[in-house]
Amino acid sequence: MKMRISPSMMCADIGKIREVIKALENEDAEYLHIDIMDGLFVPNFTLGTDYCRQIRKMTDIPLDIHLMVEKPEDKLHWFEFGRGDIVSVHAESTAHLHKAVSYIKEQGADAFVALNPATRFGAVEYVLDEIEGVTVMAVNPGFAGQKMIPSTLTKIRKLRAYLDEKGFENIEIEVDGNVSFENAAKMKKAGASIFVAGSSSVFGNDISVEDGMKKLRAALE
Ligand code: DX5
Ligand code: ZN
Repeated sequence: MKMRISPSMMCADIGKIREVIKALENEDAEYLHIDIMDGLFVPNFTLGTDYCRQIRKMTDIPLDIHLMVEKPEDKLHWFEFGRGDIVSVHAESTAHLHKAVSYIKEQGADAFVALNPATRFGAVEYVLDEIEGVTVMAVNPGFAGQKMIPSTLTKIRKLRAYLDEKGFENIEIEVDGNVSFENAAKMKKAGASIFVAGSSSVFGNDISVEDGMKKLRAALE
């Protein structure tokens, strides 16, 4: 399975956004990770619907929209997404996970279910037929710059085994949170194949976006 990188745009320098996107295009970033937060499901606000529309005008890189919002089924239609995009909703954020996942699929996008660090992956059991991926949060969602919760590595490993045992080898695991150059290799070994790259790697203080992408690719080889 090809390892894919989804740079976390909440960590990108908004003042240089066109340069950042050009650099990510040059390094063949497979997705742009857009964190949407409502201040309820997580104690933070970040990017929004207009940001997604503006980014879409600047680049053809598919979006990987991560909804950290309460009742996403009531908000998904506020966003424009389709074939080639990923949209993830949190299992903990809705009583209507199947409905939310079905809407994402109807728009032609890939539906992913995101799980907070303590949430059991059995939460996705009755949508396995519908989804293309599971996003394992390696940190408590809401803020960049946190440290990976060690138990989430075990969770990725057990989730990969669970999916394979059930015949869902095609369901991918995305990992989000503290995907550092060192952690990325461990996360890959555990079974992740899509990596949300934020302040721990691609958007680190002491490295250019291009070099961060190159270094992360090398760590994932
Ligand atoms: C956390 C966000 C992230 C990510 C940012 O809620 O979903 O996109 O943590 O990257 P890091 O963790 O490397 O700063
Ligand atoms: Zn995210």
